[in-house]
This record gives sequence, structure tokens and C-alpha cells, in this order.
Amino acid sequence: MSTTWDPAAYLTFDDHRARPFHDLLARVTARSPRRVVDLGCGPGNLTTLLTARWPAAAVEALDSSAEMVEAARARGIDARRADVVGWSPPPDTDVVISNAVLQWVPQHRELLRRWIAALGPGAELAVQVPGNFGAPSHVLVRELAAERGVALRGEGAVATPAEYAALLAATGAETDVWETTYLHRLTGSDPVLEWIGSTALRPVRDALDEGGYAAFRADLAPRLRAAYPAQPDGTTWFPFRRIFAVARVR
Ligand SMILES: C[S@@+](CC[C@H](N)C(=O)[O-])C[C@H]1O[C@@H](n2cnc3c(N)ncnc32)[C@H](O)[C@@H]1O
Repeated sequence: MSTTWDPAAYLTFDDHRARPFHDLLARVTARSPRRVVDLGCGPGNLTTLLTARWPAAAVEALDSSAEMVEAARARGIDARRADVVGWSPPPDTDVVISNAVLQWVPQHRELLRRWIAALGPGAELAVQVPGNFGAPSHVLVRELAAERGVALRGEGAVATPAEYAALLAATGAETDVWETTYLHRLTGSDPVLEWIGSTALRPVRDALDEGGYAAFRADLAPRLRAAYPAQPDGTTWFPFRRIFAVARVR
């Protein structure tokens, strides 16, 4: 519950960040679900896609960040502040979505098993997590953070696609798992630093004082520019691997 979030900064790349949500939702087949739950709804911009697709459903949204819940509520989403760790599906839940959230939740493998066991036949659970903890963006941040005594999540923050597939299939659910590497074309100076500033760098920002965080960013910026060089036209390619899993309870 401790990471602080900045909804406006997070929404800077909203078009790029929305893409996996669309791809995840495309594999959910529910026609007229009674209850749809968005676990870790963030600023609620993507939750509105759920209310648009299933206008007759009760759409429940929760997030552990007070700032994110406030941003979602300002958008008309009936969001509440809660930790997914304590959440259990109400009996009428037909769709559960969790997009780009469970990488923050170390015990999420166990939660997936628990949620599936509590869902009724035909219910669908759809999750997406970033699979980029081994990418230069994250490795560089981890190295620099470790030099300052800040320990960050490593590659074990998420499972491999095969591990998610095995975990979900073992519950007896119909299982659909895949991965995609998006090649985001970013503009502006230091766009990768800006991108991760609203996500992966949040724990660093929380751990350091203002001066320390400014120095951290100043150290990181040239390393990121070298790892993700700007093209002659000024744009920067940012490969971003994502892992998707959809389970349909039998
Ligand atoms: C990267 S954002 C994703 C937001 C939204 N799902 C989206 O796709 O745009 C991650 C969100 O997960 C929330 N979060 C992280 N850990 C959580 C937890 N244990 N319980 C509830 N929400 C959590 C954060 O507050 C943040 O809003």
C-alpha cells in the first residue's frame, strides 16, 4: 500500500498504456456479465471501457492509492480504496480484470488461485503484467538504486508465461496465456525516463529525499539515452514486453 502515485503523470502515455488493456479485453468473451471488477483501476480511464462494453453490469473498481481512487471517481467511476490482497469475488462476479497491477503484489500467484476457486462456472479472470524486469530500463534503475541502498523488485516480480499457464491450468480453468512486445515510438527528450518516472521509479522516489531523487534521475538519464537512443527524427523506440493471462472457470 506504500507506493505513491501521480495520476496525471501516469496518464502522460495513456494511448500507449491503453493498448494492452484493449488486447486483454479482446480475449474476454462475456456477453452480459452481472458484475465486472477492475482490480487496481488506477485513474479509471480504462475502467470506462468496461462500463461502455457492459452497460448493464455492476462495475466495481478498487485501487490501493488514494490519489488514483480520487482520479477515478472524478471520472464518474464508483471506485473505492482497497488492497487487492484482501479482495474476494462477490458471488455474482462474472468478469475480473487486473491490468498492470499484480507486478506490485508479491503474493499474486496465490491470489490468482484463490480468486479462481471463489469464482463461479463461466466466470473469466483476465490479467496483464509487464514482463520487462530484465529490460535495460529496469536493470539500470535497479543497479543505481542498489548503489543508494534501495532494493527494488527484480525479475521474480512476475512469473513467466509458462508458469502462469501451468498455474491457471492446474485450477481446471480454461487457460489462454500469451506475451507481446510492443514497440512504443516515443517523442520528446528523455521519454523513457519520463515513462518509468510514473511507474517503476515510484518506489525510488518514495525512498529518497527530493535532492537525492533529482540526483538519481540525473545519473539515470544518460544511461537510458544510451540504452534507448533517439533516432535521427527525434523519436525513441521503447520495446515493452507484456504478459497476458485469461482463465475461464469451468
Ligand atoms: C500501473 S497502474 C495500472 C492502473 C490501471 N489498471 C491501468 O491499466 O491503467 C498500477 C495500479 O495498481 C495499483 N495497485 C498496486 N498495488 C495494489 C494493491 N495491492 N491493491 C490495489 N491496487 C494496487 C496502484 O495504486 C496503481 O493505481
